[in-house]
Amino acid sequence: MAKLKIYTFPDTVLAQKAAPVARVEKTMYKLADDMLETMYVAPGIGLAANQVGILERIIVLDTDYEYEELDEGEEAPAGAEVVAGGIITNRKPRIVINPEIIYREGSILFNEGCLSVPEFNAEVKRSEKIKLRYQDIDGVTRELSADGLLAVAIQHELDHLEGRLFIDRLSPLKKETVKKRLRLERQQREEDEDLESLLHSSASAARPKKKSKEM
Ligand code: NI
Repeated sequence: MAKLKIYTFPDTVLAQKAAPVARVEKTMYKLADDMLETMYVAPGIGLAANQVGILERIIVLDTDYEYEELDEGEEAPAGAEVVAGGIITNRKPRIVINPEIIYREGSILFNEGCLSVPEFNAEVKRSEKIKLRYQDIDGVTRELSADGLLAVAIQHELDHLEGRLFIDRLSPLKKETVKKRLRLERQQREEDEDLESLLHSSASAARPKKKSKEM
């Protein structure tokens, strides 16, 4: 497995529509595996291919796992499942190809975040229950009924495949304000990174221990 780069707003790949997968090929195992690793390490509960720069209708999901980074030199206990230097428990990965929502019921407001929209959360209205039709990694057509967090995550990831971010679902005024702020913050982050590399202070300015899982 390999960790992939996660694109962030306003990268244009996030605003583009992903194309249907014509045929599920064996080579997709590697992409799906890499997407899962990227999601677990982030940490996230869902990731769409757009977010790693690939415009194909593939998403990965896992809403139940726990991920714990190991300290340097620390060894994982025998039998533990290790992903990218961390211990993962209760892993239930889902790989979803060509997803389509075929039924919706009810609505809920959910406070969402997104790996492609760092450090911003907002309430978004979603269907409470959904039924999904998709293909699995072996190309077999399946159906999945979901509610709660899994239903929200699926709808959030499907939006990504349409080139839509959760902030696009805010009111027009709020959306513009938020996008302006996010553009400025990103510019600031990039300037800080430039300065840091200029000063050779590669001693990674303590990565914030972000624990909430995004989508
Ligand atoms: Ni997202």
